[in-house]
Amino acid sequence: MDETIEFFEWSDEYKIGDDSIDDEHKQLFSVVNRILRNCMDQNYEQNEATCTEAIRFLKDYAVKHFAEEEAFQRSIGYAGYKTHKKVHDDMRDVVIPALEKEVAVKGYSTEALEHFTGTVAGWLAAHILIEDQAITGKTKSKWTSNPDHRSENLLEQIVETYIEGLFRMQASIISKKYAGYRLNKLFCYNNQYASSDGKVYSVVLAAEEPLLKRIATNVVNEELFEEKEIMLPMLTALLKSFISEVMTAFMPGGLTYIGGQTILTADFYNLFSVEYPKYSMLFQTNFGYMAFCIREKQVNDGKL
Ligand code: FEO
Repeated sequence: MDETIEFFEWSDEYKIGDDSIDDEHKQLFSVVNRILRNCMDQNYEQNEATCTEAIRFLKDYAVKHFAEEEAFQRSIGYAGYKTHKKVHDDMRDVVIPALEKEVAVKGYSTEALEHFTGTVAGWLAAHILIEDQAITGKTKSKWTSNPDHRSENLLEQIVETYIEGLFRMQASIISKKYAGYRLNKLFCYNNQYASSDGKVYSVVLAAEEPLLKRIATNVVNEELFEEKEIMLPMLTALLKSFISEVMTAFMPGGLTYIGGQTILTADFYNLFSVEYPKYSMLFQTNFGYMAFCIREKQVNDGKL
């Protein structure tokens, strides 16, 4: 494989306007490219050594970069510093270790490396173009709410418990600050609730198709998965009740169900177009990824 091929291309549109930070971002692009090149080579024997080293470098470099960028934010009194730091913490402490574990468990397979690089590249591009450029005023941050650690941890535990209980599979968190980067083919369901203090909660669950298939085949045999007229109502009912169980445990006694519907994948990604949901989590299972997002609005704020 040509060592100069850049799959994930740097361009000036990624510049935030601080030379030192822009150089560090370029370097991060180049590490992701190195892992991608390796992945395209499909050299499994080499994958483990090259990828372990590249992932370690990426981790170390990201940690160093985040610390330097946070120092820069403090030095200019950036108002979004606390939330930005939480997004960095999530990438450093949750996302990279979880992906690292996934590639090791899956034997550095091309599929696992594609998941790894796709997630890191998607995260990096979205983060630089929106959150990092917001530091220098080129854009506005989309993380407009900053929920406390306690409620985020509680939601994470509840979702994991219910994935295990209702879907009968282990799950672990990939990100507590999922920003809508692309996943594989999705099925998405949305429930809405009202609270007595005048808020509306729009909750979306998005599951990758192999995960969905596994959820379905816990209940029916595999051939029936292709029978959409049978599967659709069944999956809809399962996901709807999953969301209800999670929300009842997360906000006990405080919510009234308004309605639910399947939503298109494009509408799911649109959730991230203006501002990110208050809670936006990504979980991994052995069968695929699942996103769980809660947007909170005052009833009279208009459209969710
Ligand atoms: Fe360049 Fe906020 O990371």
